[in-house]
Amino acid sequence: MTANELRSKYIEFFKSKNHVEISGKSLIPDNDPSVLFTTAGMHPLVPFLLGEPHPAGTRLTDYQKCVRTGDIDEVGDPSHLTCFEMLGNWSLGDYFKKEAIAYSYEFLTGKEWLALDPRRLSVTVFAGDEKAPRDEESAACWKAVGMPEDRIAYLPASDNWWAAGPTGPCGPDTEIFYWVGEGLPPAGSNKAVDSNNWLEIWNNVFMEYNRIDENTLVKLPKQNVDTGMGLERTTTILQGKTSVYLTEIFQPIIEKIQELSGYQYGTDEEKDRSVRIITDHIRSSVFIIGDQKGVSPSNVGAGYVLRRLIRRAVRHGRKLGIEKPFLSELADAVIDNFKGPYPELEENAGRIHEELAAEEKKFNETLKKGEAEFEKLLPNLMKNPQKVIPGRVAFRLYDTFGFPIELTEELAAENGFTVDKEGFREAEKKHQELSRTQSAGTFKGGLASRSEITTRYHTATHLLQQALVEVLGDHVAQKGSNITEERMRFDFTHPQPMTKEEIQKVEDLVNLQIEKDLPVTMEVMDLEDAKKAGARALFGEKYEPRVKVYSIGDFSKEVCGGPHVEHTGQIGKFKITKEQSSSAGVRRIRAVIS
Ligand code: ALA
Repeated sequence: MTANELRSKYIEFFKSKNHVEISGKSLIPDNDPSVLFTTAGMHPLVPFLLGEPHPAGTRLTDYQKCVRTGDIDEVGDPSHLTCFEMLGNWSLGDYFKKEAIAYSYEFLTGKEWLALDPRRLSVTVFAGDEKAPRDEESAACWKAVGMPEDRIAYLPASDNWWAAGPTGPCGPDTEIFYWVGEGLPPAGSNKAVDSNNWLEIWNNVFMEYNRIDENTLVKLPKQNVDTGMGLERTTTILQGKTSVYLTEIFQPIIEKIQELSGYQYGTDEEKDRSVRIITDHIRSSVFIIGDQKGVSPSNVGAGYVLRRLIRRAVRHGRKLGIEKPFLSELADAVIDNFKGPYPELEENAGRIHEELAAEEKKFNETLKKGEAEFEKLLPNLMKNPQKVIPGRVAFRLYDTFGFPIELTEELAAENGFTVDKEGFREAEKKHQELSRTQSAGTFKGGLASRSEITTRYHTATHLLQQALVEVLGDHVAQKGSNITEERMRFDFTHPQPMTKEEIQKVEDLVNLQIEKDLPVTMEVMDLEDAKKAGARALFGEKYEPRVKVYSIGDFSKEVCGGPHVEHTGQIGKFKITKEQSSSAGVRRIRAVIS
């Protein structure tokens, strides 16, 4: 069965169970400022899962393009993907566990549907914890359709509780697995005893809760069902293949890469990995640029993710020996393969080609400059008997030419060198300290008063962001900020206008921190440690491995380049002058200090 056939069968099956087919939505979510991309089929349905009536009724089905970039570094193995399709069916306060499980089982094993061997299926259900009970009901439903007891594993919330984000609709789930090991699974085998040979293909979430905040879980007015089947994975098992990349979903892209590079897939493990990375990343990039809400490569948010995908694909193209620009050409293999279910790709083909070509060109220029510089350095480096590139040299390539450290490492390896990464970090730290001293020098000069006022605004921005989080919630994330001598402007994610009371509360909270005259301190640390310590960072922003973390008393902790005042009393009185919309899901605050 092909992926196209699977997609159609799924929709047909659920239509036969009185579901209405709705259309999948954009990859850029409308109502959820907490994520960059649509990561699951349920995303566009959040308002309806929370209780708003859906115009198409209470039984829905669709296919939805999704992007998840959390594990981008794992892409390259035979199964991880950044872009995938999710087949879904929903009950909005209509049927619940019994019917949902019976439908899943019928679709998977029914002769006229997928006709999978029931002996190769197993499931997991929620084991229960202090917040919600053990899901005996789902286990009983599974037994009722014929699932043997030893194929049902009870697992904790980390496996069997599903939520799209830190707040919103959620609930216990039951996941369905297919045996990909040798022969038939032994008696007693299930996900709890063998996590490698059982591949998840479908998830049924019983969304009867809404998470308000970390500690508050409330029951939703209605019990909903949200399911998601991975189209690529299920196609793979239906075809008895060992990797998604061997299905017709990806083969035309791989063939084109073979043609462009002259490399034959399947002959070298390292090169195969590069082929898979390019294949995955070009597909994601085409879907992101060609989306209804088209995104362009940039340095923030979704645009930054796109930039990373494109640049990583280019780098791996070079590893396969592709020297000329190739992404735009490769894009056609993606557009042709998916324009049926996703007509927007063909409609936006012109833009897809332009954006890819422009970004590839930009990146190639960066690479060329860096490489030329590296060549110039080589004769000198050759004199070094240890064959180590000093950290300060690697740092200069990075600082002056924007040449990523991993590329320096690659070039170094090609020439039999390693890079002193420790030294690279030290050089970076020194550089940061130097810029600090330099800006301190500026303060002493004639520009003192000007710099001082913007520095005060800068620290006030940190206070404002933290106050917004405390008053409005954890979904608040910085989207942009702009400071002049006269005012500050701060953009942040929040779905609706702030009320007068909220504005007042935020203003008061900031002024309270100023009155407390909290100390502002700075520490340079590893980015990972900073995150662990709870420091806020601009999501999607590119940070270096060592960063400055500014703390304002115990009130705020943020990764930031500075400069800042030494204690909050220096800021002055803070006043919000305007709160308005900036773009969909983003609010803008203007404020002054006096
Ligand atoms: N929303 C559920 C998931 O993505 C079905 O796994």
